[in-house]
Amino acid sequence: MMVTKGLLILLFLFQKIYNNIGLKFIRLNVPRAVRTGHSVTLGCEYDLENAPLYSVKWYRESDEFYRYVPKEEPPTRVFTQQGLHVDVSVSNAHNVTLLSVGRDISGQFQCEVSADAPLFHTELKSAQMTVAVVPVGVPLVTVDKSGLEHGRPLIATCHAPPSHPAANITFFVNDEKVPGYTSEWTTATEDQLEQKTAQLELTGVGGSWGALRIRCEASLFRLYRANSVAIEVKPDTPQPASVLLMGPSSNGVRINGYFQQWFTVQLAMIISACMVSIT
Ligand SMILES: *[C@@H]1O[C@H](CO)[C@@H](O)[C@H](O)[C@H]1NC(C)=O
Ligand SMILES: *[C@@H]1O[C@H](CO)[C@@H](O)[C@H](O)[C@H]1NC(C)=O
Repeated sequence: MMVTKGLLILLFLFQKIYNNIGLKFIRLNVPRAVRTGHSVTLGCEYDLENAPLYSVKWYRESDEFYRYVPKEEPPTRVFTQQGLHVDVSVSNAHNVTLLSVGRDISGQFQCEVSADAPLFHTELKSAQMTVAVVPVGVPLVTVDKSGLEHGRPLIATCHAPPSHPAANITFFVNDEKVPGYTSEWTTATEDQLEQKTAQLELTGVGGSWGALRIRCEASLFRLYRANSVAIEVKPDTPQPASVLLMGPSSNGVRINGYFQQWFTVQLAMIISACMVSIT
C-alpha cells in the first residue's frame, strides 16, 4: 500500500514538473478583424523548452482545418472546410495563411500545440476573428431644431455607412466625446450589409443656450474610422455664452431617454475635419 502511494506521489510530482517545463504558450497572433477578400496569416507562438514538437493543430470553431506534424511527410495537412483556403506553401509550424477570406469564416480560431512522447503535453489558445466589409464613405449627422428653443429636446441623428458587422457610432458635442446615446438601431441593406443609426437627445436647461457643434464618428474595429461633417446649431436669438445645458458629460448636455417626432430644418453646416483613415 505504502509503495503504491509513494509511486503515485512521485508520478504526480514528475507530471507537475514535466508540465511546468514542457510547453509554454507565448502568443496567438490572430487579428480581431480582417477585410473580406484579403488574405490573413494566423500565428501561434509557443516555447517547447527543449521538448520535441509533436503537432500543431488549427481549428475554426471546433473543426480542424490545418495540422503540422514534423514526423510526417509531408508535415502539413489541410482539412477541407467551406470558405477556408489554406496557402500550404507559406504555412508551417507557427503560421497558417488563409487566402481570400469570406464573411462566413468569422468565428473562434484555435491553436493547439502538443509536445511529443512521453507526456504529449498539450496547450490550447483561441481568439475571435471577424471578416469585415469596411464602409465606403463617411457617416451623416442631422438634427431637428425644433427642440431647445421650445423646451423640447434637440435630436441629433447619425447614420453610419453600411458595413458588416454594423459600425460603432460616437457623438461629439462641441468637440467633446459624448458617452453613449439615447437610442440606436440597425437595419439590413439590400446587399446584406448592416447600417447603424444612433440618436442623441439634448435638453437645454434654464431656457437659453449657446451654439452647439455636433458631429459623429463611425468606426469598424481598427479597419475604418471616419467623421461626419459637423453641424452647427445656433439659437435664433443669441444668448450669453453661458452654456445652460447639463448632463453626464462635461460639455454640458443631457442625454434624454426618449425621443419625440422631429422636423428637419435648414442649418448652418460647417465642413469639419472630414477624414477617413483606412488602415
Ligand atoms: C510567421 O509570420 C510572422 C508575421 O507574418 C513572421 O514575422 C514570422 O517570421 C513567421 N514565422 C514563421 C516561422 O514562418
Ligand atoms: C465597438 O466598440 C466595442 C467597445 O469598444 C468593441 O468591443 C467592438 O469591437 C466595436 N465593434 C466594432 C464593429 O468596431
